[in-house]
Amino acid sequence: MSRPNAPDPAIRESVVRRDLDTVLHPIVQHKLLETKQIVVTEAQGSTIYDADGTAYLDAMAGLWCVNIGYGRPELADVAAEQMRQLSYYPHTAMNVPAAGLADKINTLMGGGYHTYFVNSGSEANEAAFKIARQYMKHEYPGEYRFKTISRYFAYHGTTLATLDAGGMGERKAKFEPFSGDFVHVAQPYCYRCPFGLSYPSCELACVKNIENTIIGEGPETVAEIIVEPIMSGVGVAVPPDEYLPAVAKLCRDYGILLHVDEVINGFGRTGKMFAHQHYGVAPDLVAIAKGISSAYMPIAATVVKNEVFDSFYGDAAENRQVFQVNTYGGHPVAAAVALRNIEIMEAEHLAERSAEMGAYLLDGLRGLMKHQAVGDVRGKGLLLGLELVQDRETKQPLSPAQLGGVVEFCREHGVLVGRGGGGRRYGSTITLSPPLVITRAECDRIVDTLDRAVRELSVD
Ligand SMILES: Cc1ncc(COP(=O)(O)O)c(C=O)c1O
Repeated sequence: MSRPNAPDPAIRESVVRRDLDTVLHPIVQHKLLETKQIVVTEAQGSTIYDADGTAYLDAMAGLWCVNIGYGRPELADVAAEQMRQLSYYPHTAMNVPAAGLADKINTLMGGGYHTYFVNSGSEANEAAFKIARQYMKHEYPGEYRFKTISRYFAYHGTTLATLDAGGMGERKAKFEPFSGDFVHVAQPYCYRCPFGLSYPSCELACVKNIENTIIGEGPETVAEIIVEPIMSGVGVAVPPDEYLPAVAKLCRDYGILLHVDEVINGFGRTGKMFAHQHYGVAPDLVAIAKGISSAYMPIAATVVKNEVFDSFYGDAAENRQVFQVNTYGGHPVAAAVALRNIEIMEAEHLAERSAEMGAYLLDGLRGLMKHQAVGDVRGKGLLLGLELVQDRETKQPLSPAQLGGVVEFCREHGVLVGRGGGGRRYGSTITLSPPLVITRAECDRIVDTLDRAVRELSVD
C-alpha cells in the first residue's frame, strides 16, 4: 500500500509547537519529546506515516490493538452512516448495533454469554470486579467474598483498582497505598520461573501457589481470579497448556469466578478468536477491548456467562440489576464499527492468518538465537516476545538503557517494536504484536531489523 498524501513539514512544525505547549502525554517524558517525536498523520495496512514523510512499520499495531490494520474505508462509512441515523442514546434503552454486536460476541464465545458494554480495557476489568462482587453478595448473602486473586507482573489497566490488580510494583509505586482487596500469586513465566523450576517437572508449582493462596486467604473471602491467558505486558509469557484448565478447575472446586482478561489476547491476536479457546475453558467473566474494534472506535466490554447473568435477573423489587452505568456504554457508532470490524476479521480469516504468520515470524525470531544476547523466543499467533539477556547462563536482563537502545535502533530503521518486562529487575523483552494483516516480507523486515539491532548495539 502506498502513502496516500504528500508530507507537509509546515503542519508538522505547527503540531509540535502546539503540542509541546499544551498537551500532557501519557507515560513518555515530555523533555524527550522536545528533541524526538513522531507526528503521525496517516496510516495504511501495517504502516504509519509521520508528517515529515517517514514511514514506520508498526510491529505493535499501536498499543497491541489495530488488528485488521489501518486505513479501512468501510469502517469510516459505517461510522458515518450510523451517526446520521442514530448518533447516541443511553444503553438503558436498546439499540440496533449494540444488540448485533452482543449477539456476535455470544456466537464467537460459543454461546451462553451476555455482554455489558464499556469504553476501555481498564473499565472492562473494573466492571468485572464489580459484577463478581455483586454476584457474590447475591449468591452468598451475609458472606464477604470480595477479593480478587491476580498474578504478579500482570497488567490489567490504569484505574486504581485495575492497577491494584496488576502486579508490577514499579507501575504502582507512585499511587500507593492500595485497597488490599487484590491478592497476588506467582506468575506462570517459565523462562524466569519464580520457583526456579522447569516445566514439566515443576508439576505446575504456580497453580499450587494459587491453591495455597486461596486456602490461606480463606476461600469464603475470594470472589474471583483474574488471568490474562498469555501475559502480554511482562514480555509475552506463554504458560504451559495445562495451566489455564488447572486454574479453571481451582475456580470450580472453590466456588470462585474465573475472570479472563482478553483485552490484548482477544480477537485473533493469538491465532484463535479468544486465547482461552486454545485451552478449552469457559470463563465466567471475560474482559474484551482493543481488537474488538481494531481501535477504530473506543469500545470494550465485560462478557458474563449466563449463570452469572441469571444472578442479576429478577423482579425490580429484588434490586438485583447490574448496579453500574457509564454514559457511552453500548454507543451505537462504536458498536456498529466494532461489528463491521469483526465481520472483516471473519471474512478475511484473520485469526487463522494470525496463527500462520505468527508461526512464520516465530520461526524467523528463533533464527536470532544465534546471538548470545537472545535468551528466549516465544509467542502464540501474532503475539511474540524476544527476551534479551546480558548472559545466557545467568539470564541477567538487559539494563533499561540497553533495551531502550534496541527499541530506538529499530525505530531509527523504520520499525516500531515494543518493550516488555516487569520493570528494572525482571525481564527485558522486545514485544511484537503487529496488525494481523502483516505480510511475510514485513515479518522478514522485523526479523532483519532486530538481527542488526542486537548485533550492532553490541549487546552480544
Ligand atoms: C491485558 C490488559 N488488560 C487491560 C488493559 C487496559 O486497557 P485500556 O488501556 O484500554 O484501559 C490493557 C492495556 O494495555 C492490557 O494490556
